[in-house]
Amino acid sequence: MSSPLLRAEGLSFGFEYELFNDVNLELFPKESIAILGVSGSGKSSLLHNLSTFLPPNGGKVTIDGQDIYNSDVTALRRSFVGIIFQFHYLFKSMSARENLNVTTLLSDTSVDERLLQTLQIQNVIDQHVTELSGGQQQRVSIARVLSKRPKLIFADEPTGNLDKATASLVMKTLIQYTHENDAGLFVVTHDEELAKMCNKIYRLEDKTITQLQ
Ligand SMILES: Nc1ncnc2c1ncn2[C@@H]1O[C@H](COP(=O)(O)OP(=O)(O)O)[C@@H](O)[C@H]1O
Ligand SMILES: [Mg+2]
Repeated sequence: MSSPLLRAEGLSFGFEYELFNDVNLELFPKESIAILGVSGSGKSSLLHNLSTFLPPNGGKVTIDGQDIYNSDVTALRRSFVGIIFQFHYLFKSMSARENLNVTTLLSDTSVDERLLQTLQIQNVIDQHVTELSGGQQQRVSIARVLSKRPKLIFADEPTGNLDKATASLVMKTLIQYTHENDAGLFVVTHDEELAKMCNKIYRLEDKTITQLQ
């Protein structure tokens, strides 16, 4: 069996009070994990703990075998990890394609035209970002993250502001990407149906994660 892209061991975290403790999980290539849980349960905090941005209070996170809070993660952040947020941050003065080109230039990759078709944005890609709908902008921001060809994708409610059909299309695209690139997906969602498209589902509740699928 291949080694995990991501591993959490005995993770605990809280701001004023403890949000969770003893969180353990592993994510392997071609695998996807969905996290469900009520608002305020700590899903985003967990995602930030796992994605190099917020040190946990206890426990250990390894990405590609590297203990991320005891080593230099600059290279991991630049190329290995891709993060998709609910609210995208595109350069507003540029076209959608120019936004993708910024990423491909920095990461020495190229835009995957097939990906634009899958996300159904190929016809608007040369328009200004401000001319696109919110849903189209969200898909451009997802294409931008995937254009960097990350091995590990973190997505915090990536479909939160999309209609049902588009949300399903986005989730399918992310999962297909993991299969084609030996990548892993860790996704926070409110939607149990979307979660079911992933290999594993956990619920964050009562300060721990419980596997549902
Ligand atoms: N930077 C912060 N400082 C203090 N408390 C925070 C901060 N970020 C989030 N919280 C609190 O931590 C709890 C969990 O937040 P979060 O991880 O965003 O949950 P979720 O994503 O499940 O809604 C909430 O009560 C929130 O108000
Ligand atoms: Mg959140």
